[in-house]
Amino acid sequence: RRPVSIHDLRASKQRGEKFVMLTAYDHSAAALLDELGVPVLLVGDSLGMVVLGYESTVPVTLDEMLHHTRAVARGAPNAVVVGDLPFGTYQDGPSQALASATRLLKEAGATAVKLEGGGPMIEVTAHLVRAGIPVMGHLGLTPQSVHQFGGFKVQGRDVEAADQLVADAVGLADAGAFAIVLECVPTELGARITEAVDVPTIGIGAGPHTDGQVLVWHDLLGLTTGRLPRFVKPYADLRSEIAGAVKAFSSEVADGEYPGPEHRY
Ligand code: KIV
Ligand code: NA
Repeated sequence: RRPVSIHDLRASKQRGEKFVMLTAYDHSAAALLDELGVPVLLVGDSLGMVVLGYESTVPVTLDEMLHHTRAVARGAPNAVVVGDLPFGTYQDGPSQALASATRLLKEAGATAVKLEGGGPMIEVTAHLVRAGIPVMGHLGLTPQSVHQFGGFKVQGRDVEAADQLVADAVGLADAGAFAIVLECVPTELGARITEAVDVPTIGIGAGPHTDGQVLVWHDLLGLTTGRLPRFVKPYADLRSEIAGAVKAFSSEVADGEYPGPEHRY
């Protein structure tokens, strides 16, 4: 089969066909998702929270992103592999962003990068796109700004904030972003932004009207503990599956049942 390109995503939007993106942080998950035909794999900086145990995405380094993006890219010959630019590696402006993004493509094999925010990030996006780097935008609840928001809160609730997000989305699309993630915005705003731009929107907590939907691997599979955001729908209960496997292994070893004759040399 033919590898997916960023242009296929825009074509999906034009045809009105919804698509999914999933996060991936390692080779085995990436290889499975690629084989399943998932068109876009995001090496999200959610890596910091779900894999590395940080309190937020703020501490994630470019080296950590490079390490995991490499593993994912090696496992995903067909999907578009998007690497998140971590906090502090692009906010200083176009040249800092280009240096960081270049590393994600050259050293880690990403197809594209994702960055958070509108405003000054529109010019940053334009600069990367001019340099030949596909950029995915990210608006709404942008987790790298959690301290500025004062917590993980729905964004764009009042008219002014909503209008600003629409303007930012249009700005990112005009700057050449090939897709825009919308995180934690009211359903009507998700629909409004999706209509306002030609490029696909990919929602997470942005309602059903975005062109695509993204979930974090651990959330999709029921591996996340604690209080889940409202938008999370676990499609499996892998925690229970894993607990069952570990218990069975432990008790079979205790009973001398494993390794059986067929597992011996
Ligand atoms: O880091 C991440 O996983 C993300 C998605 C939730 C969009 O940015
Ligand atoms: Na992210």
